[in-house]
Amino acid sequence: MRLIPVADKSPCDLSLKNNRIQPMPKPQFQILVCCNERPPDATKPCCAPRGAMDVYRRFKDSVRRKGLRDQVMTVRTGCLKHCNQGTTVCIWPHNLWYSQVTVDDVDEIVERSLEEGAAVERLLMPDVPWQ
Ligand code: FES
Repeated sequence: MRLIPVADKSPCDLSLKNNRIQPMPKPQFQILVCCNERPPDATKPCCAPRGAMDVYRRFKDSVRRKGLRDQVMTVRTGCLKHCNQGTTVCIWPHNLWYSQVTVDDVDEIVERSLEEGAAVERLLMPDVPWQ
């Protein structure tokens, strides 16, 4: 087996394609979707029972359909500390926080926040303390 020198590349810059090391594009944006789940008897609410996984999957589909996969990384996360406002979504690097996101909101968020760089005002996280 022959190793290919990768001197100036970090492991994050590389991927394998057809058994060859290929440069992997760095995402310019991240969509963070809280998919945290708590036990049914927990005193605090959480995003999972509010359809967070469906929201996450819809974001992945939307990003793929729009051909944005090289620029946008969609990530399932643990608690984003706005549990009463779930499903909680955050768009980086814009630092846009959205509350009560449903699958019906996803395409609008992708178009407004990622393609236009603007906020979806009606979904912006209210100024509430972190939980
Ligand atoms: S459980 Fe989703 S923000 Fe806390």
